[in-house]
Amino acid sequence: MDVHVNLDRAKGGITDQIASRLREAIREGRLAAGVRLPATRELARDLGVSRGVVVEAYERLVAEGFLISRVGAGTRVAPAGVRPPGTAARPPRRVRPYYGLRPTTPDLTGFPRERWLAAIKHVLATMPPDALDYADPGGVEELREEIAGRLRRVRAADVHPDNVVIVGGVAQGLSLSVRALAALASGSAVARRARHDLDWFMERIRDGDGVPGAWPYPPSPSVRLAVEDPTSLRQIPLLRAAGAELVAIPVDEEGIDVAALWRSGARAVLLTPAHQFPTGVVLSPRRRAELMAWAAETGAMVVEDDYDAEFRFDRAPVGCLQGLAPDRVVLAGSVSKPLAPGLRLGWVVAPPSIAESVRVARGELDLGSPVVEQYALAHLLRTGAYDRHLRRMRRECRRRRDALVEALARHLPEVEVRGVPAGLHVYVELPPEWDEAAVSRAAREAGLAAEEVGPMRTAPGPPAIIIGFGRLPVHHADPLVHALSRTFR
Ligand SMILES: Cc1ncc(COP(=O)(O)O)c(C=O)c1O
Repeated sequence: MDVHVNLDRAKGGITDQIASRLREAIREGRLAAGVRLPATRELARDLGVSRGVVVEAYERLVAEGFLISRVGAGTRVAPAGVRPPGTAARPPRRVRPYYGLRPTTPDLTGFPRERWLAAIKHVLATMPPDALDYADPGGVEELREEIAGRLRRVRAADVHPDNVVIVGGVAQGLSLSVRALAALASGSAVARRARHDLDWFMERIRDGDGVPGAWPYPPSPSVRLAVEDPTSLRQIPLLRAAGAELVAIPVDEEGIDVAALWRSGARAVLLTPAHQFPTGVVLSPRRRAELMAWAAETGAMVVEDDYDAEFRFDRAPVGCLQGLAPDRVVLAGSVSKPLAPGLRLGWVVAPPSIAESVRVARGELDLGSPVVEQYALAHLLRTGAYDRHLRRMRRECRRRRDALVEALARHLPEVEVRGVPAGLHVYVELPPEWDEAAVSRAAREAGLAAEEVGPMRTAPGPPAIIIGFGRLPVHHADPLVHALSRTFR
């Protein structure tokens, strides 16, 4: 076990310093209960201090209850209940962080490191110094061109590079788009204030109104936004923060219920037509037509999260809605599944005025995405490396999905896998008397990436869980599902 102990020799009190660094590491959980510390001789050698100093530090922590020392078993971190508690002011540890590996996380061991490295090298070797300056907050032109070309080719989108805005993933794309739609829906004065806060104030001062006369400040813009029910839970807070008043619209086997949308009074709708999250259904041709008629007749906007569109295994994915009505649809996508979520790179395609609004909002927020990565992604797209990587991933994901679905049929014949063969997860409907939270827990304990669907719904629905297969090696599917069937029964 390596331990990192920072010493400030100028300060003296080396024993105190070692003891307090180790104490902090234990309190903060960096040294977990039961971990064996290095032998005193080893740590003394690593730190360049005499062994006696380390022995004394260890003895002090043993006396305080942080460490346990047994002859022949070395010195270990004491179990949590035994050692002294941390300071009361420390916030409780999150039980379940909202970040980190989830059922829908891709296999990150498959990230094309060599190709990405080659792309970064190429960019650094060829980009002029000026390209390292602040760039267009809407994204560098090369990347917007590549994205536009690819979306036209692969997603039947109707897009010009000027209408593409590069964003930090779909999440940020949705935040900025909803802000823009809220501004649009809330009338011109509020819209102007949302889009150009500072301009709005400066005009007031210039026109002699003065800032005091500008009070009361116009209300924050908001928009009545329909979302699918069930939906991706983690996007709810960001949509609300961006100014959405949410209204839940049921999803059935054909996708979102457009009749319910008519009744909702929504001015915009956010949906995942290519592969609905979490149910896995595709918006049917009939519903697509109904949805676009609703948007045209009510003047509402459609926000299309192009979720899993690139991960259809049985056939080419259905073209995006944006291609049908580019003036009514905002299309959002990212490289989170094809490459890695941690890259935080995505795009929004929108009608010109909304695209401009999103671009300005991005400038006001943080001046745009990192440029080196944008050029690197453009290089990957231009050279065809991105498409080759995607084809490989699709083949592997399909094998993994097939293995999971077969294992479920073999060991849990009572459950039903719904949705089309696509994406990185399956939606598994359970018999009505089964407790989805218990099944989901048992699945996780068995080693599967599972999550219950209940919390994603507002209206009651049949018990269901989702199980991710992106990170599930083919040969693990059968034993893990078998283990689940044994523990659950
Ligand atoms: C349905 C759906 N869309 C979009 C996202 C966000 O993706 P990105 O990493 O591109 O922000 C998520 C992530 O959880 C999601 O569940």
